Amino acid sequence: MCKEVLSNLQDWTLPEQAREGRTLTMWLYLVAFVGLYYLLRWYRERQVVSHLRDKFVFITGCDSGFGNLLARQLDARGLRVLAACLTEKGAEQLRRQTSDRLETVNLDITKTESIAAATQWVKEHVGDRGLWGLVNNAGIIKRVSLCEWLSIDDSMDILKVNLIGVIQVTLSMLPLVRRARGRIVNVSSILGRIASFAGVYCVSKFGVEAFSDILRRELRHFGVKISIVEPGYFRTGMTNLTQSLEGVKQSWEKAPKHIKETYGQQYFDAFYNIVKEGLLSCSTNLNLVTDCMEHALTSVHPRTRYSAGWDAKFFFIPLSYLPTSLADYILTRSWPKPAQAV
Ligand SMILES: NC(=O)c1ccc[n+]([C@@H]2O[C@H](COP(=O)([O-])OP(=O)(O)OC[C@H]3O[C@@H](n4cnc5c(N)ncnc54)[C@H](OP(=O)(O)O)[C@@H]3O)[C@@H](O)[C@H]2O)c1
Repeated sequence: MCKEVLSNLQDWTLPEQAREGRTLTMWLYLVAFVGLYYLLRWYRERQVVSHLRDKFVFITGCDSGFGNLLARQLDARGLRVLAACLTEKGAEQLRRQTSDRLETVNLDITKTESIAAATQWVKEHVGDRGLWGLVNNAGIIKRVSLCEWLSIDDSMDILKVNLIGVIQVTLSMLPLVRRARGRIVNVSSILGRIASFAGVYCVSKFGVEAFSDILRRELRHFGVKISIVEPGYFRTGMTNLTQSLEGVKQSWEKAPKHIKETYGQQYFDAFYNIVKEGLLSCSTNLNLVTDCMEHALTSVHPRTRYSAGWDAKFFFIPLSYLPTSLADYILTRSWPKPAQAV
């Protein structure tokens, strides 16, 4: 105790220059430590699994967007891609753009019989090797809207595809993935980390995060690795400007009269413009997302979570760690005021 007090006193009596020198040394140690951490992480993460050309990867929602690009990317890298498309037209287009090794199957993830048939098809393809990768990518947003404007049927549709579909496909394919000690990559969203502006879609993505976390913990003794990909805003079929704005209009038009009176036309007009601005600012660099998916499937040490896109990394993720009241203020400060606001 006495020694401690004495050393503190000595610190105080050090000349200013010596104290500055100590602070500088402390900062240098810190920078070196952080640099070393990132260097080791970079080295660890760049190790690639062997025999990629023999590995089968099944991807849902390959008609367009991230799924379509990932299928082409993995095919070019030599993996055996089993691409599930919702429509035959989407499957045909994809086959035309890829090698003979890529195969397609039609799959609607809201239909039990469709999932069972796709699982049987995958089983026949992979045989005893099992399925190395399952990418749960298919998803819908239906309409960008407030929770109150969305009909319960629309909400159910979103949950059926984005959450129940993901759970059902995963549980159906899991024995095949377990056999290969493979990977499951679930596409969530940055809106699965912090809920904002997309109503029940956020609920579905929070569900995907929870499902992935619990599955990772349950499967840790089977050598199966689960990764979650959380994209920010990207320009795909889901964020198509014309269709999305039409969807916003439809949800407002369909909303009950009392809800319209509560919010008012001015609120809707401002909301519409905010959505439009958001859609116009979507990133067109889809590789930022598919590179994360590819890493999760091919690296010896995949990450548990990948946030993809600058908005995700530098705005939404930091925001999700702030106190809720501060995050609420930042997210809603530019929102309009409803007609019947109190
Ligand atoms: N774009 C973004 O900014 C963004 C951000 C965060 C997360 N995400 C997530 O990324 C994933 C891929 O979306 P995306 O942006 O690439 O949009 P997308 O281009 O619309 O791709 C979604 C795919 O899912 C398919 N699909 C829809 N319903 C299906 C069903 N019932 N069964 C099977 N497939 C179905 C679609 O088929 P059709 O084309 O034939 O309808 C389409 O191929 C989704 O999970 C989405 O939530 C996207």
